[in-house]
Amino acid sequence: MTLVDAAIYAIHLVFAGLWSGAVLFTSYAVVPMALNGDLRAGALDALTGKLRTVSRASSVLLLLTGGYLAVTGYTSESLLGSGRGHLVLTMVVLWFALASLVEIGASKLVDGTAKQKVRQPAAEARPFLLAASLVAALLLVDAGAILGLYY
Ligand code: HEM
Repeated sequence: MTLVDAAIYAIHLVFAGLWSGAVLFTSYAVVPMALNGDLRAGALDALTGKLRTVSRASSVLLLLTGGYLAVTGYTSESLLGSGRGHLVLTMVVLWFALASLVEIGASKLVDGTAKQKVRQPAAEARPFLLAASLVAALLLVDAGAILGLYY
């Protein structure tokens, strides 16, 4: 592994952790607080903005670094014809699902906070953010399985 490969791999791992962590924390802490009415609309709006920024930056960086890792570490045969290849392709599908679910959940929150509402947008966003959390956990399981296939 060259220094560039190692740096790309490290960026991929850091943003994988940051993105999944941010999504899980939002479902675990932010949405329940909003549902209880413990957050003002301005605070919920600001937190949602941070989630969006982390999610958008991570999705772009993971696509770029993941694309690099796939192109340098795999051939089309190994992507389509090996267990590890299938897990990498699954990662791409889950990446798309995670980015989409966070965007939908965040839009529902922001639409509500623009009308100074908190509980109703939190209730509407909750299923999408819970689904996003499940997908984030599946991505980490997928990554663990790729690693497991090396041993
Ligand atoms: C288009 C999106 C993505 C592509 C193309 C991609 C591709 C890859 C590739 C090729 C590897 C190296 C596999 C190997 O070592 O043989 C990898 C590793 C990894 N990816 Fe992704 N990835 C993407 C998105 C994600 C996302 C969204 C996450 C988590 C949120 C993630 C988490 C990881 C982790 C933790 C590893 C390191 C563990 C390992 O090597 O098994 N990836 N990815």
